[in-house]
Amino acid sequence: MADLDGKKVAKDYAVDIPFANQGSFHVKGANDLDWGMKKHLSNIFNPDSGNTVMFAFDHGYFMGSTAGLERLDLLIPILLPYVDVLMATRGALRSSVAPSCGKGIALRVSSGSSMLNEDLSHELVAVDIEDAIRMNADCMAVQTFIGADGQLSSIGNLSNVINAGFRYSIPTLGVVAVGKQMERTDRFFKLATRIVAEMGAQIIKTYYCDNFEEVVAACPVPIVVAGGKKLPENEALTLAYRSMQGGARGLDMGRNIFQSNHPAEMAQCIGKIVHNGYTDKEAYELLLDLIN
Ligand code: R5P
Repeated sequence: MADLDGKKVAKDYAVDIPFANQGSFHVKGANDLDWGMKKHLSNIFNPDSGNTVMFAFDHGYFMGSTAGLERLDLLIPILLPYVDVLMATRGALRSSVAPSCGKGIALRVSSGSSMLNEDLSHELVAVDIEDAIRMNADCMAVQTFIGADGQLSSIGNLSNVINAGFRYSIPTLGVVAVGKQMERTDRFFKLATRIVAEMGAQIIKTYYCDNFEEVVAACPVPIVVAGGKKLPENEALTLAYRSMQGGARGLDMGRNIFQSNHPAEMAQCIGKIVHNGYTDKEAYELLLDLIN
């Protein structure tokens, strides 16, 4: 193993130079993957913009019923026109989402903790690959706790899912988890996103931070940004805009959509930033027009 004490501090991220191994495919780091992987990735990342709006409503896997997600059967249909991908558990999808929804599916496959646990970092793989295939999942989402007590098992879960995914050409979405005590700095996110990418995940979900463009540059696969706790709508749109300006290939947003008083309009405005080059100010003006 490399000598950590003698580690040279990396500093040249060449943020202005595009990813060099892009080839003709629109998803970063995926040019040399096989047809099946590329088909799934194209169901997630729009081939025209290269970006995605994921709607995350998998919170029930550890939070139970959450404010804004009480009635998935009523919420999901109003959001479908404005999102590209649904990120959810198999229970939520099978029970409450029509298979004719026409959206990409990011299937939550790790589980094992709940809000009743002090330490959420201990999970297992709760969904086998056959069920992901049956559901025609476009990617499988695994929570990954770098630097937490459960790091070893979550890296094990991630590896098992990636190995199964390669057998059947289903991409894996590595979700970088952030515990209450863990730092949310570019130093941590560079470490965590790169570890998850080096394990073989084809997509990484993480949080926005200062120097985000360096996190993106050092990660050889696309990053989608989590929304995090509910913000005022204008601040959530600014988060989305800064993420995209920093090189994210989309948002994987939950509470800032489903806890808004105007979830469909928020999803629509996020989409304008992600796919149509709107600034946060333009998107907020559109939101005000839509809701007034
Ligand atoms: C959490 O682990 C889940 O992956 C959520 O889907 C994720 O946190 C995104 O939702 P939010 O935008 O509410 O943070």
